[in-house]
Amino acid sequence: MSLTDKVIDRFKDLFQTQPTVFIAPGRINLIGEHTDYNGGFVMPAAIDKHFVFAVSPRTDSIFSVYALDLDEHVEFESNNLTHGDSWANFLMGVLDAILQKNLKVGGLNIVFGSSIVMGGGMSSSAALCSGFGFALNELYDLKLTGMELAKISQSAEKNFAGANVGIMDPFASLHGQKDSFMLLDCRSLEYEYLPFYSDEYELVLIDTKVKHSLASSEYNKRRQSCEEGVAKIQVQHSSVFTLRDVSKDLLFEFKEDLDEDVFDKCSYVIDEIERTRQAANLLKAGDLKALGSLMFQTHWGLSKQYDVSCAELDFLVSLAGKNKEAFIGARMMGGGFGGCTINLIRKQSTIALTDEIKSNYFATFKTEPNFYPVKLEEGVHLTTTINNL
Ligand code: GLA
Repeated sequence: MSLTDKVIDRFKDLFQTQPTVFIAPGRINLIGEHTDYNGGFVMPAAIDKHFVFAVSPRTDSIFSVYALDLDEHVEFESNNLTHGDSWANFLMGVLDAILQKNLKVGGLNIVFGSSIVMGGGMSSSAALCSGFGFALNELYDLKLTGMELAKISQSAEKNFAGANVGIMDPFASLHGQKDSFMLLDCRSLEYEYLPFYSDEYELVLIDTKVKHSLASSEYNKRRQSCEEGVAKIQVQHSSVFTLRDVSKDLLFEFKEDLDEDVFDKCSYVIDEIERTRQAANLLKAGDLKALGSLMFQTHWGLSKQYDVSCAELDFLVSLAGKNKEAFIGARMMGGGFGGCTINLIRKQSTIALTDEIKSNYFATFKTEPNFYPVKLEEGVHLTTTINNL
Protein backbone atom coordinates (compact mmCIF):
# COMPACT_ATOMS: atom_id res chain seq x y z
CA MET A 1 0.00 0.00 0.00
CA SER A 2 1.41 3.42 -0.92
CA LEU A 3 2.14 6.05 1.72
CA THR A 4 -0.67 8.20 0.30
CA ASP A 5 -3.18 5.35 0.61
CA LYS A 6 -2.09 4.64 4.18
CA VAL A 7 -2.48 8.29 5.14
CA ILE A 8 -5.91 8.55 3.50
CA ASP A 9 -7.15 5.31 5.09
CA ARG A 10 -6.07 6.43 8.51
CA PHE A 11 -7.65 9.83 7.98
CA LYS A 12 -11.01 8.27 7.05
CA ASP A 13 -10.86 5.99 10.12
CA LEU A 14 -10.18 8.89 12.44
CA PHE A 15 -12.31 11.65 10.97
CA GLN A 16 -15.02 9.85 8.97
CA THR A 17 -14.76 12.21 6.02
CA GLN A 18 -13.00 12.54 2.68
CA PRO A 19 -9.71 14.51 2.90
CA THR A 20 -7.95 16.91 0.57
CA VAL A 21 -4.45 15.54 -0.02
CA PHE A 22 -1.20 17.50 -0.32
CA ILE A 23 2.36 16.40 -1.05
CA ALA A 24 5.23 18.32 0.60
CA PRO A 25 8.70 17.24 -0.54
CA GLY A 26 12.06 17.35 1.21
CA ARG A 27 14.97 19.01 -0.52
CA ILE A 28 18.53 18.45 -1.57
CA ASN A 29 21.08 21.16 -2.20
CA LEU A 30 23.63 20.63 -4.96
CA ILE A 31 25.90 23.45 -3.83
CA GLY A 32 25.70 26.72 -1.90
CA GLU A 33 25.84 25.64 1.74
CA HIS A 34 25.51 28.08 4.65
CA THR A 35 25.16 30.86 2.11
CA ASP A 36 21.41 31.52 2.38
CA TYR A 37 21.56 33.49 5.62
CA ASN A 38 24.52 35.40 4.19
CA GLY A 39 22.57 36.80 1.24
CA GLY A 40 24.32 34.40 -1.16
CA PHE A 41 23.25 31.85 -3.75
CA VAL A 42 21.94 28.32 -3.19
CA MET A 43 21.10 25.55 -5.65
CA PRO A 44 18.44 23.29 -4.11
CA ALA A 45 15.73 21.05 -5.57
CA ALA A 46 12.63 19.35 -4.19
CA ILE A 47 12.89 15.54 -4.26
CA ASP A 48 10.84 12.36 -4.42
CA LYS A 49 10.87 11.94 -0.63
CA HIS A 50 7.95 13.77 0.89
CA PHE A 51 5.22 14.26 3.45
CA VAL A 52 1.67 13.32 2.55
CA PHE A 53 -0.97 15.45 4.30
CA ALA A 54 -4.62 14.42 4.37
CA VAL A 55 -6.60 17.41 5.57
CA SER A 56 -10.16 18.62 6.12
CA PRO A 57 -11.45 21.90 7.54
CA ARG A 58 -13.32 22.04 10.85
CA THR A 59 -16.14 24.26 12.04
CA ASP A 60 -14.29 25.08 15.28
CA SER A 61 -10.73 26.39 15.76
CA ILE A 62 -9.13 23.11 16.86
CA PHE A 63 -6.19 21.51 15.03
CA SER A 64 -6.46 17.77 15.48
CA VAL A 65 -3.28 16.29 14.03
CA TYR A 66 -2.21 12.65 13.82
CA ALA A 67 1.38 11.75 12.91
CA LEU A 68 1.12 8.34 11.30
CA ASP A 69 4.78 7.30 11.50
CA LEU A 70 5.03 8.23 15.18
CA ASP A 71 1.53 7.14 16.13
CA GLU A 72 1.06 10.43 17.99
CA HIS A 73 -2.13 12.48 18.12
CA VAL A 74 -1.90 16.13 19.19
CA GLU A 75 -4.63 18.77 19.49
CA PHE A 76 -4.06 22.50 19.79
CA GLU A 77 -5.84 25.78 19.33
CA SER A 78 -4.51 29.15 18.29
CA ASN A 79 -4.71 30.41 21.89
CA ASN A 80 -2.44 27.67 23.31
CA LEU A 81 0.57 27.63 20.99
CA THR A 82 3.74 26.43 22.70
CA HIS A 83 7.44 26.52 21.83
CA GLY A 84 9.70 23.47 21.63
CA ASP A 85 11.21 21.09 19.14
CA SER A 86 8.45 18.53 18.73
CA TRP A 87 6.79 18.29 15.31
CA ALA A 88 3.68 19.96 16.72
CA ASN A 89 5.64 23.11 17.63
CA PHE A 90 6.60 23.55 13.99
CA LEU A 91 2.92 23.53 13.03
CA MET A 92 2.13 25.93 15.85
CA GLY A 93 4.87 28.25 14.61
CA VAL A 94 3.33 28.29 11.14
CA LEU A 95 -0.12 28.96 12.53
CA ASP A 96 1.25 31.76 14.72
CA ALA A 97 3.03 33.43 11.77
CA ILE A 98 -0.20 33.30 9.72
CA LEU A 99 -2.24 34.77 12.58
CA GLN A 100 0.38 37.53 13.00
CA LYS A 101 -0.59 38.63 9.50
CA ASN A 102 -4.18 39.08 10.69
CA LEU A 103 -5.39 36.31 8.43
CA LYS A 104 -8.44 34.30 9.49
CA VAL A 105 -8.27 30.52 9.63
CA GLY A 106 -10.43 27.84 11.22
CA GLY A 107 -9.22 24.50 12.56
CA LEU A 108 -8.14 21.43 10.58
CA ASN A 109 -8.21 17.67 10.89
CA ILE A 110 -4.89 16.31 9.67
CA VAL A 111 -3.16 12.98 9.22
CA PHE A 112 0.37 13.09 7.86
CA GLY A 113 3.00 10.50 7.03
CA SER A 114 6.47 10.83 5.53
CA SER A 115 9.05 9.11 3.37
CA ILE A 116 11.72 11.67 4.30
CA VAL A 117 14.49 10.30 6.50
CA MET A 118 14.21 12.26 9.76
CA GLY A 119 17.49 13.96 10.66
CA GLY A 120 18.94 12.94 7.30
CA GLY A 121 19.47 16.53 6.19
CA MET A 122 16.66 16.44 3.61
CA SER A 123 14.87 19.11 5.57
CA SER A 124 11.91 17.30 6.96
CA SER A 125 11.07 20.24 9.25
CA ALA A 126 10.81 22.71 6.38
CA ALA A 127 8.68 20.25 4.39
CA LEU A 128 6.40 19.79 7.40
CA CYS A 129 6.00 23.56 7.86
CA SER A 130 5.60 24.22 4.14
CA GLY A 131 3.01 21.51 3.68
CA PHE A 132 0.95 22.71 6.64
CA GLY A 133 1.16 26.36 5.55
CA PHE A 134 0.20 25.39 2.00
CA ALA A 135 -2.81 23.42 3.27
CA LEU A 136 -4.03 26.37 5.36
CA ASN A 137 -3.50 28.68 2.40
CA GLU A 138 -5.56 26.47 0.08
CA LEU A 139 -8.35 25.48 2.45
CA TYR A 140 -8.88 28.96 3.89
CA ASP A 141 -8.09 30.79 0.67
CA LEU A 142 -5.45 33.04 2.26
CA LYS A 143 -3.92 34.09 -1.09
CA LEU A 144 -0.34 33.87 0.22
CA THR A 145 2.38 33.49 -2.43
CA GLY A 146 4.92 30.66 -2.38
CA MET A 147 7.61 33.06 -1.18
CA GLU A 148 5.36 34.33 1.63
CA LEU A 149 4.72 30.74 2.69
CA ALA A 150 8.47 30.08 2.63
CA LYS A 151 9.07 33.06 4.94
CA ILE A 152 6.30 31.84 7.24
CA SER A 153 7.96 28.40 7.48
CA GLN A 154 11.32 30.01 8.12
CA SER A 155 9.91 32.12 10.94
CA ALA A 156 8.18 29.06 12.46
CA GLU A 157 11.54 27.28 12.76
CA LYS A 158 13.15 30.37 14.22
CA ASN A 159 10.45 31.51 16.62
CA PHE A 160 9.02 28.19 17.73
CA ALA A 161 11.91 25.73 17.41
CA GLY A 162 14.85 28.09 18.05
CA ALA A 163 16.77 27.37 14.82
CA ASN A 164 17.65 30.65 13.13
CA VAL A 165 17.59 29.06 9.66
CA GLY A 166 17.73 30.64 6.22
CA ILE A 167 15.10 30.62 3.51
CA MET A 168 16.53 27.81 1.37
CA ASP A 169 14.70 24.76 2.70
CA PRO A 170 11.09 25.97 2.65
CA PHE A 171 11.77 27.85 -0.59
CA ALA A 172 12.91 24.61 -2.22
CA SER A 173 10.09 22.51 -0.84
CA LEU A 174 7.52 25.03 -2.12
CA HIS A 175 9.02 25.99 -5.50
CA GLY A 176 10.53 22.74 -6.78
CA GLN A 177 10.02 21.69 -10.38
CA LYS A 178 10.44 18.23 -11.87
CA ASP A 179 13.97 17.53 -13.16
CA SER A 180 15.26 20.96 -12.16
CA PHE A 181 17.52 22.56 -9.65
CA MET A 182 16.86 26.17 -8.71
CA LEU A 183 19.40 28.93 -8.43
CA LEU A 184 18.07 31.22 -5.70
CA ASP A 185 19.60 34.58 -4.97
CA CYS A 186 18.91 34.82 -1.25
CA ARG A 187 19.44 38.59 -1.27
CA SER A 188 16.89 39.55 -3.95
CA LEU A 189 14.90 36.29 -3.70
CA GLU A 190 14.95 36.05 -7.49
CA TYR A 191 15.36 32.55 -8.82
CA GLU A 192 15.67 30.56 -12.01
CA TYR A 193 15.18 26.90 -12.85
CA LEU A 194 18.20 24.95 -14.03
CA PRO A 195 17.17 21.73 -15.78
CA PHE A 196 19.10 18.67 -14.67
CA TYR A 197 19.22 15.58 -16.75
CA SER A 198 22.05 13.12 -17.27
CA ASP A 199 22.34 9.75 -19.01
CA GLU A 200 25.67 9.19 -17.36
CA TYR A 201 25.35 10.31 -13.75
CA GLU A 202 22.81 10.04 -10.99
CA LEU A 203 22.23 11.81 -7.71
CA VAL A 204 22.58 9.61 -4.66
CA LEU A 205 22.38 10.56 -1.00
CA ILE A 206 24.42 8.49 1.42
CA ASP A 207 23.10 8.72 4.95
CA THR A 208 25.72 8.49 7.72
CA LYS A 209 22.85 7.77 10.13
CA VAL A 210 24.44 10.30 12.49
CA LYS A 211 21.61 12.42 13.84
CA HIS A 212 22.68 16.02 14.00
CA SER A 213 21.87 16.83 17.61
CA LEU A 214 24.35 19.73 17.75
CA ALA A 215 22.85 21.19 14.66
CA SER A 216 20.69 24.04 15.87
CA SER A 217 23.00 25.43 18.58
CA GLU A 218 26.12 25.19 16.41
CA TYR A 219 24.16 26.46 13.41
CA ASN A 220 23.17 29.59 15.30
CA LYS A 221 26.81 30.08 16.36
CA ARG A 222 28.03 29.93 12.75
CA ARG A 223 25.47 32.51 11.84
CA GLN A 224 26.67 34.76 14.67
CA SER A 225 30.29 34.46 13.47
CA CYS A 226 29.25 35.63 10.01
CA GLU A 227 27.27 38.50 11.50
CA GLU A 228 30.24 39.47 13.67
CA GLY A 229 32.47 39.67 10.59
CA VAL A 230 29.90 41.78 8.74
CA ALA A 231 29.44 44.13 11.72
CA LYS A 232 33.19 44.87 11.92
CA ILE A 233 33.45 45.54 8.19
CA GLN A 234 30.25 47.59 8.13
CA VAL A 235 31.70 50.15 10.55
CA GLN A 236 33.96 51.33 7.74
CA HIS A 237 31.87 50.23 4.75
CA SER A 238 28.26 51.21 5.28
CA SER A 239 27.09 49.49 2.08
CA VAL A 240 27.96 46.06 3.53
CA PHE A 241 24.91 44.27 4.97
CA THR A 242 25.78 40.61 4.50
CA LEU A 243 28.81 38.58 3.40
CA ARG A 244 27.39 38.74 -0.11
CA ASP A 245 28.55 42.35 -0.14
CA VAL A 246 32.11 41.47 0.93
CA SER A 247 34.81 40.56 -1.59
CA LYS A 248 37.75 38.36 -0.67
CA ASP A 249 40.06 41.39 -0.98
CA LEU A 250 37.92 43.40 1.41
CA LEU A 251 37.84 40.53 3.91
CA PHE A 252 41.65 40.36 3.83
CA GLU A 253 41.85 44.06 4.67
CA PHE A 254 40.13 43.14 7.96
CA LYS A 255 42.17 40.03 8.70
CA GLU A 256 43.93 41.60 11.68
CA ASP A 257 40.69 43.00 13.14
CA LEU A 258 38.76 39.74 13.04
CA ASP A 259 39.09 36.69 15.27
CA GLU A 260 40.87 33.94 13.35
CA ASP A 261 37.78 31.80 13.69
CA VAL A 262 35.46 34.53 12.38
CA PHE A 263 37.84 35.19 9.50
CA ASP A 264 37.81 31.50 8.50
CA LYS A 265 34.02 31.30 8.61
CA CYS A 266 33.61 34.45 6.51
CA SER A 267 36.27 33.31 4.08
CA TYR A 268 34.48 29.99 3.51
CA VAL A 269 31.15 31.74 2.86
CA ILE A 270 32.60 34.23 0.36
CA ASP A 271 34.27 31.37 -1.54
CA GLU A 272 31.09 29.30 -1.47
CA ILE A 273 28.98 32.12 -2.88
CA GLU A 274 31.42 32.36 -5.80
CA ARG A 275 31.50 28.56 -6.26
CA THR A 276 27.72 28.48 -6.48
CA ARG A 277 27.71 31.13 -9.22
CA GLN A 278 30.30 29.11 -11.12
CA ALA A 279 28.38 25.88 -10.56
CA ALA A 280 25.23 27.41 -12.07
CA ASN A 281 27.15 28.29 -15.24
CA LEU A 282 28.67 24.81 -15.37
CA LEU A 283 25.26 23.18 -14.99
CA LYS A 284 23.91 25.35 -17.80
CA ALA A 285 26.89 24.33 -19.94
CA GLY A 286 26.34 20.64 -19.07
CA ASP A 287 29.80 20.31 -17.50
CA LEU A 288 28.91 18.07 -14.57
CA LYS A 289 32.50 16.95 -14.01
CA ALA A 290 33.72 20.49 -13.34
CA LEU A 291 30.66 21.11 -11.16
CA GLY A 292 31.44 17.92 -9.24
CA SER A 293 34.94 19.09 -8.42
CA LEU A 294 33.45 22.26 -6.94
CA MET A 295 31.33 20.02 -4.70
CA PHE A 296 34.49 18.43 -3.28
CA GLN A 297 35.90 21.91 -2.63
CA THR A 298 32.69 22.85 -0.81
CA HIS A 299 32.96 19.79 1.38
CA TRP A 300 36.48 20.45 2.55
CA GLY A 301 35.64 24.11 3.12
CA LEU A 302 32.69 23.07 5.28
CA SER A 303 34.84 20.56 7.12
CA LYS A 304 38.10 22.48 7.66
CA GLN A 305 37.04 26.13 7.67
CA TYR A 306 33.37 26.22 8.57
CA ASP A 307 33.72 23.28 10.94
CA VAL A 308 30.28 21.74 10.50
CA SER A 309 31.25 18.26 9.29
CA CYS A 310 31.88 15.09 11.32
CA ALA A 311 34.13 12.03 11.02
CA GLU A 312 31.46 9.98 9.23
CA LEU A 313 30.76 12.62 6.57
CA ASP A 314 34.48 13.21 5.99
CA PHE A 315 35.02 9.45 5.69
CA LEU A 316 32.38 9.11 2.94
CA VAL A 317 33.68 12.10 0.99
CA SER A 318 37.28 10.87 1.29
CA LEU A 319 36.25 7.48 -0.09
CA ALA A 320 34.46 9.20 -2.96
CA GLY A 321 37.53 11.35 -3.62
CA LYS A 322 39.63 8.21 -4.05
CA ASN A 323 37.36 7.02 -6.86
CA LYS A 324 36.76 10.05 -9.05
CA GLU A 325 36.05 7.84 -12.08
CA ALA A 326 32.78 6.89 -10.41
CA PHE A 327 32.18 9.80 -8.03
CA ILE A 328 32.45 13.04 -9.95
CA GLY A 329 31.14 15.05 -7.01
CA ALA A 330 30.54 14.45 -3.29
CA ARG A 331 30.04 16.60 -0.25
CA MET A 332 28.15 16.84 3.01
CA MET A 333 24.73 18.42 2.56
CA GLY A 334 22.65 20.76 4.71
CA GLY A 335 23.41 22.27 8.11
CA GLY A 336 25.96 19.58 9.02
CA PHE A 337 27.05 17.49 12.04
CA GLY A 338 25.51 14.37 10.49
CA GLY A 339 22.89 13.50 7.93
CA CYS A 340 23.74 12.74 4.30
CA THR A 341 26.37 13.34 1.70
CA ILE A 342 25.14 14.26 -1.78
CA ASN A 343 26.93 12.47 -4.59
CA LEU A 344 27.05 12.60 -8.36
CA ILE A 345 27.82 9.01 -9.31
CA ARG A 346 28.35 7.31 -12.66
CA LYS A 347 25.14 5.32 -13.14
CA GLN A 348 26.74 1.95 -13.92
CA SER A 349 28.97 2.12 -10.86
CA THR A 350 26.45 2.70 -8.09
CA ILE A 351 25.49 -0.90 -7.39
CA ALA A 352 29.07 -2.20 -7.23
CA LEU A 353 30.12 0.76 -5.11
CA THR A 354 27.32 0.40 -2.62
CA ASP A 355 28.63 -2.86 -1.14
CA GLU A 356 32.22 -1.66 -1.08
CA ILE A 357 31.33 1.58 0.72
CA LYS A 358 29.02 -0.18 3.15
CA SER A 359 31.72 -2.62 4.21
CA ASN A 360 34.43 0.06 4.48
CA TYR A 361 32.13 2.25 6.55
CA PHE A 362 31.11 -0.67 8.73
CA ALA A 363 34.74 -1.53 9.47
CA THR A 364 35.22 1.92 11.00
CA PHE A 365 31.83 2.93 12.38
CA LYS A 366 30.15 -0.44 13.08
CA THR A 367 27.04 0.50 11.16
CA GLU A 368 26.20 0.64 7.47
CA PRO A 369 25.21 3.86 5.71
CA ASN A 370 21.97 3.99 3.74
CA PHE A 371 21.87 4.83 0.03
CA TYR A 372 19.05 6.90 -1.45
CA PRO A 373 19.01 7.62 -5.18
CA VAL A 374 16.89 10.76 -5.61
CA LYS A 375 14.83 12.31 -8.38
CA LEU A 376 13.96 15.98 -8.64
CA GLU A 377 10.25 16.62 -8.25
CA GLU A 378 7.54 19.23 -8.16
CA GLY A 379 7.30 21.33 -4.97
CA VAL A 380 4.39 21.29 -2.49
CA HIS A 381 1.16 20.58 -4.35
CA LEU A 382 -2.37 19.37 -4.13
CA THR A 383 -3.12 15.87 -5.41
CA THR A 384 -6.91 15.83 -5.11
CA THR A 385 -9.61 18.44 -5.55
CA ILE A 386 -10.26 20.64 -2.54
CA ASN A 387 -13.01 19.50 -0.21
CA ASN A 388 -14.30 22.57 1.56
CA LEU A 389 -16.85 22.44 4.34
C1 GLA B 1 19.96 24.17 7.10
C2 GLA B 1 19.14 25.46 7.10
C3 GLA B 1 19.25 26.20 5.75
C4 GLA B 1 20.70 26.36 5.33
C5 GLA B 1 21.46 25.04 5.46
C6 GLA B 1 22.93 25.21 5.21
O1 GLA B 1 19.42 23.26 6.21
O2 GLA B 1 17.79 25.18 7.34
O3 GLA B 1 18.60 27.44 5.84
O4 GLA B 1 21.31 27.40 6.03
O5 GLA B 1 21.30 24.46 6.74
O6 GLA B 1 23.15 25.59 3.91
